[in-house]
Amino acid sequence: MAAKARIAVIGAGLMGHGIAQVFALAGHDVTIHDQLAANLDSAKTRILANLKDLGDDQSAVERVTPNADLAAAVRDADYVVEAVSEDLALKQRLFAEIERHVQPATILASNTSVIPITRIMEGLRDRSRALGTHWWNPPYLVPLVEVIGTQWSSQAAIDWTIALHKAAGKMPVHVKKDVPGFVGNRLQHALWREAISLVERGICDAETVDTVIKASFGRRLAVLGPLENADLVGTDLTLAIHQTVLADIESRAGPSPYLESLVKQKKLGFKSGEGFRKWGADAQAALRSKVLQHLKQARASDA
Ligand SMILES: NC(=O)c1ccc[n+]([C@@H]2O[C@H](COP(=O)([O-])OP(=O)(O)OC[C@H]3O[C@@H](n4cnc5c(N)ncnc54)[C@H](O)[C@@H]3O)[C@@H](O)[C@H]2O)c1
Repeated sequence: MAAKARIAVIGAGLMGHGIAQVFALAGHDVTIHDQLAANLDSAKTRILANLKDLGDDQSAVERVTPNADLAAAVRDADYVVEAVSEDLALKQRLFAEIERHVQPATILASNTSVIPITRIMEGLRDRSRALGTHWWNPPYLVPLVEVIGTQWSSQAAIDWTIALHKAAGKMPVHVKKDVPGFVGNRLQHALWREAISLVERGICDAETVDTVIKASFGRRLAVLGPLENADLVGTDLTLAIHQTVLADIESRAGPSPYLESLVKQKKLGFKSGEGFRKWGADAQAALRSKVLQHLKQARASDA
């Protein structure tokens, strides 16, 4: 991987501007494209505000060039990462268009949250250079990037992408099979399914679910993964626990009817002021700020 690569980020929303920021801070030249002028025009302002807030080198923003023309934005890129809205047809159309304009060796990545990369890339002429890179929000604070290969991805494209992210200070991992939700969101939503089920079954209320997690194993999770934990307590004890509890844990294949009923009642969480719990403006701001503060502290202690 070249020390200085040419990166194109397509989509200047929440994730796109943050991804551009990380690559620019790592010394790469970054072109950013969005079809929405308001988002494209504000991208550098948002990046600069983040750099200031984090105490990072503000001159990095000078390496970011917004471009309203998709073809021009990707033409010279070594690497293109897409972070547009989570819509399969849109992503398919976009990559077909991108492929018409890039160099033969350009690597193409999608930052989709859960759509299989295979579905997004299946129509491309050269699928060996296409893969997934799943970042977490905010991209400049959460270290993990899941690098997802499809059956067609070349090892060289995967290795190059992993090296690119490592050199930019991220923690890339290789996901070998392109399954929905990859690794992180599968694990996260396995937990959410049981969390919702506990409330649905009247075992405890929503606040209690969150308290139990935050005040117990959540405290350890950042330094003790579940499989490390299983080894720590012993696989024999883990087996004994599973023999007792697994049969009672939620295993339904579809979404919870309780969750469906919240959505039907327009209890949409922060955006409507109520979801599993009620959220006034102050409580929303306090929670957002607490999460951001926590992530900043974790980044500082990593450094
Ligand atoms: N928000 C998260 O926490 C998160 C985390 C990981 C992955 N993702 C994924 O990243 C992607 C982007 O998510 P986001 O949260 O940044 O969304 P967002 O809505 O903040 O940004 C999407 C951007 O894409 C732009 N866009 C839409 N159609 C376009 C087109 N045809 N050409 C160019 N730009 C176009 C929009 O104008 C917008 O600026 C999604 O696939 C999402 O699932 C999101």
